[in-house]
Amino acid sequence: MRIVHIGHETDFSGWRDHARALLGAGIRPEDVVWRVCTEEADLFDVMTRDTGTAPKAKITVPRAFLTDAQMAVCHRDPARFDLLYRLLWRSQDMPGLLANSVDEDVHTLHKLTKAIRRDRHKMHAFVRFREVKGEAEETFVAWFEPEHRITELAAPFFMRRFSNMRWSILTPDCCAHWDRETLTYSEGTTAAQAPDGDELEDLWRGYFRSIFNPARLKVKAMTSEMPKKYWKNLPEADLIEPLIASARALETQMVSAAPTPVKREASYEFSDPCATPADALDTLRREAAGCTLCDHACHATQTVFGEGPADTPLMIVGEQPGDTEDITGRPFTGPAGAVFDEALAGAGLSRDALYLTNAVKHFRFIPKGKTRLHRTPGTAHIDHCRRWLKAERSWIKPRLTLAMGATAIRALHGKTLSVTGAREGFSCFDGGLAFAGLHPAAVLRQTVPEERERAYHTLVSDLARVRQRLEAKENTPA
Ligand code: URA
Repeated sequence: MRIVHIGHETDFSGWRDHARALLGAGIRPEDVVWRVCTEEADLFDVMTRDTGTAPKAKITVPRAFLTDAQMAVCHRDPARFDLLYRLLWRSQDMPGLLANSVDEDVHTLHKLTKAIRRDRHKMHAFVRFREVKGEAEETFVAWFEPEHRITELAAPFFMRRFSNMRWSILTPDCCAHWDRETLTYSEGTTAAQAPDGDELEDLWRGYFRSIFNPARLKVKAMTSEMPKKYWKNLPEADLIEPLIASARALETQMVSAAPTPVKREASYEFSDPCATPADALDTLRREAAGCTLCDHACHATQTVFGEGPADTPLMIVGEQPGDTEDITGRPFTGPAGAVFDEALAGAGLSRDALYLTNAVKHFRFIPKGKTRLHRTPGTAHIDHCRRWLKAERSWIKPRLTLAMGATAIRALHGKTLSVTGAREGFSCFDGGLAFAGLHPAAVLRQTVPEERERAYHTLVSDLARVRQRLEAKENTPA
């Protein structure tokens, strides 16, 4: 039995080095005990770090597995390192193992990465910075308690979004600090280190009050998306209950008020020449949140805007948000999103590195009992909503676009094209190059397992072709 000590709780590279050496030395997963170094353990360290052992055989690891493993080590599950090594070991003799989501280990890995993605999303959404008074330079601090050890995974998002601010995010496990140039990390701390109130909070509370729409209030969805455990650190939290309580009266007032005329501009003008692409996308997201150009905008819970880095070369466009996305507010977070994520990983792409959006930004549905049945958007909806896609594209300027399905093709090209023809490439309204591919929902629609498998492989190969084209473009001198 080998006891392997790794540096710290989220030490992915430590795990990877040991795992490589153990695998090379032919050490079976059941003969390894993974321990995270604590000071006590270090005192009696019986470590057998195997990094000096030459690998016996060629080790092959899909890139997607490493991405998942990097996430999984942030989970609080004490068995995560064993699981990862077991999967690595088994995958050497079973090349398709990691794509087999019914395998128990693969399923557990997916559960861990899903929890981490969800936790990271919550952190992105619920961190609230407060100004630190008395500092020579404007400085902001936020206190947050993530469920897992995700500070290092989540911090780059804040670095991109608040690149001009000096900030620290304090958590019990790890603290992240950005000084407008470098992102650094330090040990975890306590809530007492964070300031607890300032003028920015009043502004934020005013904004929250003004965007609160009683007609769209869905308490269950709201508390599932914004669980109560996060409320204690949110400045707007004490407004939520009174606003919910007054929602019915406000709704009646809104219904009896005179209708506001709907604006029907063909395109959206946003031309702040000083805005950075990331800031401009934030502004667009806020503007689109109030869009009421289509009838279904009034029934959907919220606008689901695109997301991803502003400087990415790749944009992927879907059709419209589904039932889950309408509630989470993020594209591809429901069943089609799960297929999409799996296919992305299979194609060696990462969601974090691309801009993902939909042709139509509101969920169109027909209510049926307690469920809401998806309705394909009509050409008028696609054409109205193109203003947002145009605005997103004007800031991202992707080198390549993948249109998943006929709606995305129509939105990007302006006219209906056949999916088969568009697979070979077509040009977007702004001259950009796009390719058509299968929509992940088409995989879910297949009821026969072999056909579902075939559709899934088509989706993976559509994504892989885009990746190859992008790589070929990157290697071609401009
Ligand atoms: N289908 C889409 O086209 N987009 C989503 O965001 C979800 C499902």
